[in-house]
Amino acid sequence: MCGIVGYIGQREASPILLEGLKRLEYRGYDSAGVAVLADETLKLKKYKGRVTDLARTASSSDLTGSLGISHTRWATHGAVTEENAHPHVSHDGKISLVHNGVIENYLSVKKFLESNGVEFYSETDSEVFCNLIAYHYEKEDKNSPNRFLNSVRRSLRHLDGTYGIAAICTDCPDELFGARKGSPLIVGIGTDEYLLASDVSAIISRTSNVVYLNDGEIVSLKNGELNLLTNDEEVLTPEVQKIDWDIAESELGDYEHFMLKEIFEQSGALENAMRGRFSDDQSTAKFGGLNVSAQELRQVDRILLCACGTAWHACLVGEYLIERYARIPVEVEYASEFRYRNAPLDKNTLVLVISQSGETIDTLAALRESKRKGYKTLAINNSVGSTIARESDGGIYQHAGPEIGVASTKAFTSQLHILSMLALYLGRLRDMSFQEGVEYVEALKQAPELVTETVKLNDEILAISEKYKDMQDCLFLGRQDMFPIALEGALKLKEISYIHAEGYPAAEMKHGPIALINESCPAIVLATQPDIHAKLLSNIQEVKARGAPVIAIATKSNPLPKHLVDDQILIPDSHRAVLPVLASIPMQLLSYHIANLRGCDVDKPRNLAKSVTVE
Ligand code: M6R
Repeated sequence: MCGIVGYIGQREASPILLEGLKRLEYRGYDSAGVAVLADETLKLKKYKGRVTDLARTASSSDLTGSLGISHTRWATHGAVTEENAHPHVSHDGKISLVHNGVIENYLSVKKFLESNGVEFYSETDSEVFCNLIAYHYEKEDKNSPNRFLNSVRRSLRHLDGTYGIAAICTDCPDELFGARKGSPLIVGIGTDEYLLASDVSAIISRTSNVVYLNDGEIVSLKNGELNLLTNDEEVLTPEVQKIDWDIAESELGDYEHFMLKEIFEQSGALENAMRGRFSDDQSTAKFGGLNVSAQELRQVDRILLCACGTAWHACLVGEYLIERYARIPVEVEYASEFRYRNAPLDKNTLVLVISQSGETIDTLAALRESKRKGYKTLAINNSVGSTIARESDGGIYQHAGPEIGVASTKAFTSQLHILSMLALYLGRLRDMSFQEGVEYVEALKQAPELVTETVKLNDEILAISEKYKDMQDCLFLGRQDMFPIALEGALKLKEISYIHAEGYPAAEMKHGPIALINESCPAIVLATQPDIHAKLLSNIQEVKARGAPVIAIATKSNPLPKHLVDDQILIPDSHRAVLPVLASIPMQLLSYHIANLRGCDVDKPRNLAKSVTVE
């Protein structure tokens, strides 16, 4: 939600800020803005629209200066207008601020400031934040060298809610401030320059050395120095970390969209998820960063999986995998529900959260709640250094590379693969035989090749997409471990094509959703499990009898009878633990092509943002 970039250094700030914003646009894209400071003069440009439009309209001669802040917005408080866009500027023109997060007590602070003569031009909590800094700045000792810092600090003490901010002041043309509580912020250390950003992708083209801010920390970047402080005036030693991303990974290359690129990157993502993580002589998986011993894991008698959105669907598949192969009872919770439900958990419960970004606020809150109650809390996460990675007791990095498309694809299948590996590891600590482990490991290792084979169905799926692109409704049906894949298929289709789609366990359909079925509501049926084929065929007959077209996803060795399906996509045969990955791919491609054929903005669907950092 919202992307922030700040710059201080020797170079022109605005091109660097705009380039950073473009890379952060997946965090929010309804409006954007830049403020640059030179010779104590603030130059500001905002635009209701995309960063590319802002860049087109912002002539660099209007925005000269080597200190600046910028923002791409996902609206929370106030409509999408130029006034509500960031950067905000205080009523006296001195302070300018960009903000990611939500200030919960902004109305009472606004009232207080209004009673002190401040007039507001926007509906945002962020403008209130900016003016509170200006209010304290005015009250501070005018000769204090820490006048700006103290006014930032005092403001932070009065505000409830979450923030990642970058702020500048016209009286301090050589100082950039950042602060975080609940919303991510990093400092990039370049050559003669510092950058502030919501995440690594904004700065990776300039530096791979970063400092991650923790909640409650403030950073001052001034005269070539980085000073890290707490809000309680403690001085901290910054820990510089090296990012091992390849810049090419965040470029489109020859692809039309990041989503398509990321679908095609899935084979490599699985390879990366497995690298160095098998112990062949023991026919099991191994994980370096779990921080839980094998003995402790043998004591675990329940696992709680917690996440949001697509990652929650991965948890549902994880439930099947872990229960089937490790025989440990698993529960799956929406992270946003877990936090407030106060579920009684046994002391031998292991909590595992899953998050691609590692910044999803609901998942982070669930992790914190679980840790507060004393449960061992691990994370599967794709973003090294993210808040969830840092706050969990241990976990497994996905190493899937940056995922830029808002619709999650390669991160999802990489999560599924890691859950399969985890189920194997836990299974081998318990009852799974050596031979079963050997076959399992072999199947996991073969998965990247099968993924490569599956993405070759692209042209065939494009042709099917042409046929169904104008549908208004669509049902996704699957049983057992294919039920979560049906849910994920429905989410993918609705989030990028805006077609109403629902996922159901195939047999549940007759308990209600069957009322929706008619000739213009196709059913996409996942039919990959031979042991329940017969039952699924009955469910398909029920759909067909009501005139709905059926698109089946089945395996090559077990196709469905032709008279029962209108279209059929055949994926490679594989181990049961790998099939959810393979079955996901045709659905990703169907959603992608249908959305693209309907003229939708596939990588930046309406109303969505990649990383949801507000509750
Ligand atoms: O970064 P996270 O994995 O925590 O994100 C969770 C969801 O917001 C995310 O999966 C969302 O549902 C995607 N838009 C799905 O494509």
